[in-house]
Amino acid sequence: MSAVCTYELARRSDAETIAGMSRWLIEAGLTPTWHTERVLWHMQDKESVVLVARDQGRLVGFAIMQFGDASAHLNLLGVAPTRQRNGIGRQLLSWLETSAITAGTFLIGLEVRETNLAARRFYATMGYREIGRVDGYYQGRENAIRMYRDLAKHAAAR
Ligand SMILES: CC(C)(COP(=O)(O)OP(=O)(O)OC[C@H]1O[C@@H](n2cnc3c(N)ncnc32)[C@H](O)[C@@H]1OP(=O)(O)O)[C@@H](O)C(=O)NCCC(=O)NCCS
Repeated sequence: MSAVCTYELARRSDAETIAGMSRWLIEAGLTPTWHTERVLWHMQDKESVVLVARDQGRLVGFAIMQFGDASAHLNLLGVAPTRQRNGIGRQLLSWLETSAITAGTFLIGLEVRETNLAARRFYATMGYREIGRVDGYYQGRENAIRMYRDLAKHAAAR
């Protein structure tokens, strides 16, 4: 069942929360790279979208996507553990995919930690295909699985 959340562009005051959640949800065991300043940078970057999900005002999910001419890249996606498996990740990613289609960008790429089987299953459910492994992608300490989705067929069916 999908949680009743509000999905909207992040505010500057969300940056610290997003950076903090990224540290333990996504970068656990690695040297943190998603500092508040980096999140703020994406908020003011014209080619990036920083999206949040709120439940009664509380930030429960976030995603950052960077849009290029030919493809877009999903940089971050996270949902608070107590709110996972409620459709929030799906809603965040679908929102960004719709933006990509509107911008005429149909290829979406991302990297995920090889050991993060839950996220790999989530992305597979969302139509992403694993196209390869990048050894040592995460600070030389962990491999990444590169995934992508071609939204062209999806867009044509709309
Ligand atoms: C990956 C993540 C973003 C998914 O968000 P979510 O809100 O829990 O996912 P959803 O509820 O939208 O799931 C949609 C579908 O994906 C699949 N899925 C999601 N989590 C899954 C899991 N742990 N195991 C298997 N399948 C899963 C299911 O098919 C699910 O549908 P269902 O619940 O009806 O069966 C979330 O688990 C998370 O924040 N994980 C920690 C951070 C992370 O790994 N981020 C991604 C790498 S950057």
